Amino acid sequence: MTLHLILNGMPVSCECGPSEPLLEVLHERLNVRSPRRGCDDSYCGACSVLLDGQLVHSCTVLAAAFDGSDVVTAEGLMKDGRLHPVQEAFLRHGATQCGYCTAGFLMAAVAVLNESRTPSPNEIANAMRGNICRCTGYQKIVHAIHDVARQGEGGDFA
Ligand code: FES
Ligand code: FES
Repeated sequence: MTLHLILNGMPVSCECGPSEPLLEVLHERLNVRSPRRGCDDSYCGACSVLLDGQLVHSCTVLAAAFDGSDVVTAEGLMKDGRLHPVQEAFLRHGATQCGYCTAGFLMAAVAVLNESRTPSPNEIANAMRGNICRCTGYQKIVHAIHDVARQGEGGDFA
């Protein structure tokens, strides 16, 4: 089938098999690289994207079921040449981690701020449970997201 998506605000289309995960479509057909293949089993969160506004693990979403949907990846967070407030906060707090997990954490951060303008540190930490990092920690990430919320920059992102 031909799959149509709104990808980071732009209409795109590509061929797509019936059992192709969204992650594969993004990588192989649309050349979008920020969502990473970690576990390939909906466990690590490295492949996280926003699909019609919801945070999903793109490795286990069948793309064909979402024809016409809106997809936002880390590539789509920058607006008008400016980093997204969450990206800026990650930089300020040293919360950018490795190239494998960071994009997924950014998307999870955007999702939690879209859900609540004023999430508590505990709520933020809970929201990050679908994103796994075994090498560093979560504290700087939680501080960065909380900082965005405290500055009233939370909500209605991406
Ligand atoms: S690669 Fe999708 S959750 Fe790990
Ligand atoms: S998986 Fe990225 S820093 Fe641990």
